[in-house]
Amino acid sequence: MLFKRNPNGIDIPFSSEITPRHIFESRRSFIRQLAVGSIAGGALMDMLTREAFAQSEGAQKLAAKRDTAFVVMDKPTSYKDATTYNNFYEFGTDKTDPSRYAGAMKTRPWTVAIEGEVKKPMTIDIDSLMKLAPLEERVYRLRCVEGWSMVIPWTGYSFSELIRKVEPTGNAKFVEFISLADKKQMPGVRSPVLEWPYVEGLRLDEAKHPLALLTFGMYGEVLPNQNGAPLRMVVPWKYGFKSVKSIVKIRFVKDQPRTAWNIAAPQEYGFYSNVNPEVDHPRWSQATERRIGEDGFFARKRKTLMFNGYSDVASLYSGMDLKKFF
Ligand code: MTE
Repeated sequence: MLFKRNPNGIDIPFSSEITPRHIFESRRSFIRQLAVGSIAGGALMDMLTREAFAQSEGAQKLAAKRDTAFVVMDKPTSYKDATTYNNFYEFGTDKTDPSRYAGAMKTRPWTVAIEGEVKKPMTIDIDSLMKLAPLEERVYRLRCVEGWSMVIPWTGYSFSELIRKVEPTGNAKFVEFISLADKKQMPGVRSPVLEWPYVEGLRLDEAKHPLALLTFGMYGEVLPNQNGAPLRMVVPWKYGFKSVKSIVKIRFVKDQPRTAWNIAAPQEYGFYSNVNPEVDHPRWSQATERRIGEDGFFARKRKTLMFNGYSDVASLYSGMDLKKFF
């Protein structure tokens, strides 16, 4: 098991789990009940999660089993915040550009090529890829390098499942993830703000870590386009830009890949980019973060945790100077 179940035994529930309706119907009565102590902590967590879950109409639901070993107990970010405050430069640099412009991107048909140093390369349709391993729901914190964070219920399976299927050769040392870059569908690709396509990478042992999630959905539904439909990575112990969206190609390679943000500003964005409160960005501190949804005058900043709280990954970096390999 990678990290503890919630210390007080409260698991954040699945979108499909039914909690007695009366609890949710009246917030006022809920608060009254809470005040007199007649609602247990579990029900409170239920309510918070419900609030966060799916408000999109007509989105395809994704059945998945919740994996309690991968559920953080922080209150999930609201669906609205998670789908309207985005970074997806292919659609523009403003936080609201992806939700405004990504809707038109075609996500079917969609194929993903998996190639390079593997014994069994494949070009696979997204719906077949989704069925290669059982889908799980996991609630992860995601910490952006800009100093904000969210908590999102993702649906997918460990990237290691795919690694097993394609059988990397002994030469494979890194994995390179490549996003779609289509000027016709993605207005941001016409601007030279980054080198396109957006490319990210992991060392093979990082990619094998069970936390690294090949992700098809969030909040119990397929990914909204602005969040990287139909396929993205979520690597929760690293800054958000490592969690590459709308993937069309995955390459197993010998050498460390050149990655989009590292090319744009190598002194600011390293290849590893593990969340690390002790290594500041050259232009700002990384010691604290703003949790989206907790804004407002009196909102306290949260302390950023080493590896975003996923301390289990520390062994991947034993003996490495993380200030040097930032
Ligand atoms: N992937 C692509 N292809 N293009 C991008 O601009 N932005 C990254 C990452 N993946 C980005 C991307 C950054 S900076 C962050 S913080 C996360 O996506 C944001 O994911 P979210 O919008 O789902 O919160």
